Amino acid sequence: MDHKKSMDYRKKMILAPMVRICTLPMRQLALEYGADIVFCEEIIDFKILSAKRIENDLLGTIDYVLSDETIVFRTHPKERDKLVFQLGTSDPKRAVAAAKKVEKDISAIDVNMGCPKLFSLKGGMGAALLSEPEKAKEILSALVNCLSIPVTCKIRILPTLQETLDFVKLMESTGISAITIHGRTKEERPQHQNHNDVIKAAAEVLKIPVIANGGSKEISEYADIERFRNETGASSVMIARAAQWNPSILRKEGKLPLFEVIRRYLQICIDHDNMFTNTKYCILQMMHADMDKEEGIRTQTAAAMGQLCEIWNMKGYYEAVSTKRQILKEEMDRKMNS
Ligand code: FNR
Repeated sequence: MDHKKSMDYRKKMILAPMVRICTLPMRQLALEYGADIVFCEEIIDFKILSAKRIENDLLGTIDYVLSDETIVFRTHPKERDKLVFQLGTSDPKRAVAAAKKVEKDISAIDVNMGCPKLFSLKGGMGAALLSEPEKAKEILSALVNCLSIPVTCKIRILPTLQETLDFVKLMESTGISAITIHGRTKEERPQHQNHNDVIKAAAEVLKIPVIANGGSKEISEYADIERFRNETGASSVMIARAAQWNPSILRKEGKLPLFEVIRRYLQICIDHDNMFTNTKYCILQMMHADMDKEEGIRTQTAAAMGQLCEIWNMKGYYEAVSTKRQILKEEMDRKMNS
């Protein structure tokens, strides 16, 4: 392809893909706080292929919606230049078809090669691809050859350093633009030490940018992110759990009080009509260390968006936006029918 778009993966601060966390509001918040690039949660190829693309004029978003009205993926044009779509796949043809479907709404495609969950492994996706390097290579080559946007992959390390280096070099040979390395094997859990030395060794042998991941256990302030980058010798860093707990960790100027962050998050959720269950889930994740506080207990029992907004002193804003949206919707319906 001669009209390839590119993305600069050097010296970047990246929000990691996280299922149920990295929907549009969290991505927008991360961008506000200083993320350079944001990943969406992993979306399985079959799912995006069965969704319909709808331009949502009421919200200004682009929605990929299933026949039962489930929103598989919602994005806003303002995040397009920073947005990476993470695909769960085990098949080159399906991967290309799925990526082609979303290509014009995003900046890059990433293939998940690190998820250790049984669902992924049984489907030959995620970390299963670490044991099938030829298939992983086929998927990436097909994407690189067929898309106009950059392709990357996100892996975990393999059992030995040599296997990891062989694997990353093989992936690099497909023409991908960068590689994210989570410094744990697929058997290791979040409490295990991240192998920063393995990421460093990979960064030394590869020409493409390496994005270091897995450092959240030791990240409690912005300076820790810089330390993680230095220790791994990587071009860029990708943050998951530390951002899930308090996305303002990404601010150069320092973290903000959690309640302020939650209220801003809720405001963005209201603006984008984010699903109540997703909004509540993310707030509870942010509250994880403070669940004994009154707001935490009340959030747990909230059963609707209005109730959630009341707990966080956002009821007035919620009602004003809802009323405005209803009026706009009626106007749009009238125009459509006239
Ligand atoms: C994840 N992770 C993950 N990884 C991925 O490639 N695709 C995904 O959809 C998800 N989903 C997900 C959800 C949640 C709630 C968590 C906590 C993690 C893994 C994540 O991106 C990252 O690799 C690890 O969490 C290690 O990085 P940190 O947390 O140490 O920064």
